[in-house]
Amino acid sequence: MTINTVAVIGAGYMGGGIAQSFVLAGLDVVIADQSAEATAQALERLIREAQEFEDQGLYGAGSAARIKAGLRSAASIEAAVADVDFIEEAVFENPEVKREVLGRISAAARPDAIIGTNTSTIPVRVLADAVQGPERFLTVHFSNPAPFIPGVELVAGEKTDPKIIPEIRELLAKAGRQGAQVADVPGFVLNRLQYVLLKEATAIAEEGVATVEDIDMLVRTTFGFRLPFFGPFAIADQAGLDVYAGGFSTFENAFGPRLATPQILKDAVTADRRGLKNGRGLIADYSDAEKQAVIAYRNKAYAEMGRLLSVLGPAPAGTKIG
Ligand SMILES: NC(=O)c1ccc[n+]([C@@H]2O[C@H](COP(=O)([O-])OP(=O)(O)OC[C@H]3O[C@@H](n4cnc5c(N)ncnc54)[C@H](O)[C@@H]3O)[C@@H](O)[C@H]2O)c1
Repeated sequence: MTINTVAVIGAGYMGGGIAQSFVLAGLDVVIADQSAEATAQALERLIREAQEFEDQGLYGAGSAARIKAGLRSAASIEAAVADVDFIEEAVFENPEVKREVLGRISAAARPDAIIGTNTSTIPVRVLADAVQGPERFLTVHFSNPAPFIPGVELVAGEKTDPKIIPEIRELLAKAGRQGAQVADVPGFVLNRLQYVLLKEATAIAEEGVATVEDIDMLVRTTFGFRLPFFGPFAIADQAGLDVYAGGFSTFENAFGPRLATPQILKDAVTADRRGLKNGRGLIADYSDAEKQAVIAYRNKAYAEMGRLLSVLGPAPAGTKIG
């Protein structure tokens, strides 16, 4: 099925941004919140916010008018979902509330409608049995702020029909988003990585290794600078897998087995995969032409990133605590 019509249930911070994104992708979108009044207020807010985004140059010319014309409010959840191809649930992050809402959505939706939840943390298996027809249910997890962040995590449950995944990917592509399917484990991928980063950053601060301000500055200006372009595997390929394996030995000596060389890296080095430098990496093999192309892209990306940051200037700082 090609998805042309969407209902977003829970038109708060995330649901509102998701609804705007789908309208801008050319879909017909209806929202519903806790009451007809709350939904009407949310619709007004989303139209006003779209105009602000357009005025600030964040949305293209004509976006606010398109959102005004293409976004509708429904008087109830049941009315919103009755005849749409896809429903995204974005109510409070509470399993009981979500189960109740997903039960109502699935009872009122067409049997062939696909139902997604925007949960950040709750496994599909905790919610799926509240859905009538769990084979059409999955997590479609947008990131904050939803109008601007392109990556979306997709989580299929045990009962999810695999054939709906490409249909959701096609929908996301229309909205300029990229979806990646991940296993049904708490925290999925992005939050697990983000939380580990924060955990280690707080440990570094607590140990007095560096100040909170300096840790943030170093993250932004060193490895964080690379992350819009390359993930950790691509970065390891570029740095050299043998170099990384050696680095982990130092960490293991200092911090114990939690930072021992990962098996995948040991195996790669044993198989003489050293990354870009010998054309044999973790994510790919690289011909000489591909190596040159990666390096040229990398250099251009970082130079452009430097320019963007100098145009934007530093992020406004909050008031310092204490
Ligand atoms: N805020 C984030 O950074 C973020 C990021 C990714 C995912 N999420 C997830 O998105 C979901 C929504 O989060 P949010 O930040 O938009 O919260 P929010 O509080 O801004 O919005 C939730 C909306 O759901 C509505 N709602 C609650 N119960 C309802 C019901 N029974 N029927 C209809 N509407 C109901 C509320 O009135 C509210 O408008 C959560 O699952 C959250 O974990 C949030």
